[in-house]
Amino acid sequence: MAKNLKPETKETDSRLRGNDKTMKDLFGKAILDYQQGNYTEDLITETTISEADELPLPYLFRSYDEMPLIEQKALQLASGHVLDVGCGAGSHALFLQKERNMQVTAIDVSEGAIEACKLRGIKDAQMADVMDMSGASYDTLLFLMNGAGMAGTLGRMSEFLQHIKTLLKPGGQILLDSSDIIYMYDEDEDGGRWVTNNKNYYGELEFFVSYKGEEEEPFDWLYIDYNTLQRAAIANGLDCELIVEGEHYDYLARLTVASHSPSA
Ligand SMILES: C[S@@+](CC[C@H](N)C(=O)[O-])C[C@H]1O[C@@H](n2cnc3c(N)ncnc32)[C@H](O)[C@@H]1O
Repeated sequence: MAKNLKPETKETDSRLRGNDKTMKDLFGKAILDYQQGNYTEDLITETTISEADELPLPYLFRSYDEMPLIEQKALQLASGHVLDVGCGAGSHALFLQKERNMQVTAIDVSEGAIEACKLRGIKDAQMADVMDMSGASYDTLLFLMNGAGMAGTLGRMSEFLQHIKTLLKPGGQILLDSSDIIYMYDEDEDGGRWVTNNKNYYGELEFFVSYKGEEEEPFDWLYIDYNTLQRAAIANGLDCELIVEGEHYDYLARLTVASHSPSA
């Protein structure tokens, strides 16, 4: 059995796009509350295979020193014009802008998050869905805090990768982190795992977020192991490199347009 398995199934948003009008933007409300000094409680997250857990709001406002190693490494590798995709409270964008004097555009589908980013001083913060963006304008795309999750499911990974690579300038890079969550599933006597998420791939989860007594619409979020990411990348004309592994099954990968690819 999976750890903390939740027996009930709820309807899931199966779309790839993040700008779902039915979303209440609880994530953004929480970020904005924190930014405006109204921090009274944390976000609660729950998934198909794990019980309710607190996501401390101060974590979204982390400094460079408080960031996990894989995020610090991503910030060290960022170069040129950076697009921080799903920037949340904008901690990565703010570091690059303030400490490294870099040109950064921060985007998020959350209105509250973008308002908070502007209040924090991010010069170019826009409410946008990465899937709606166009133009090969960026040298670095940052997808951090399990940025691969934005693809939603493994089945949508190709569409996701095909689109985001069009946003890269020639020679550009995608820096993206994720985790191999097989450890979340219980092991049997033979060393196999009981994969009980009722999906095609064990890293496909449904997320349930609540804040101050309100519940967000459930949404799909993908955790992808490195080998599966690499296979998906290669199939979509991208080279994939494992940059660093974190302390808890997490890793940072760099994707670049493969030299033999027609879009290279
Ligand atoms: C796990 S949070 C990470 C926030 C931030 N990167 C950090 O590390 O603190 C994921 C963020 O991605 C945003 N997001 C989800 N889908 C998106 C999309 N298609 N385009 C832009 N942002 C998206 C969410 O609103 C959320 O703020």
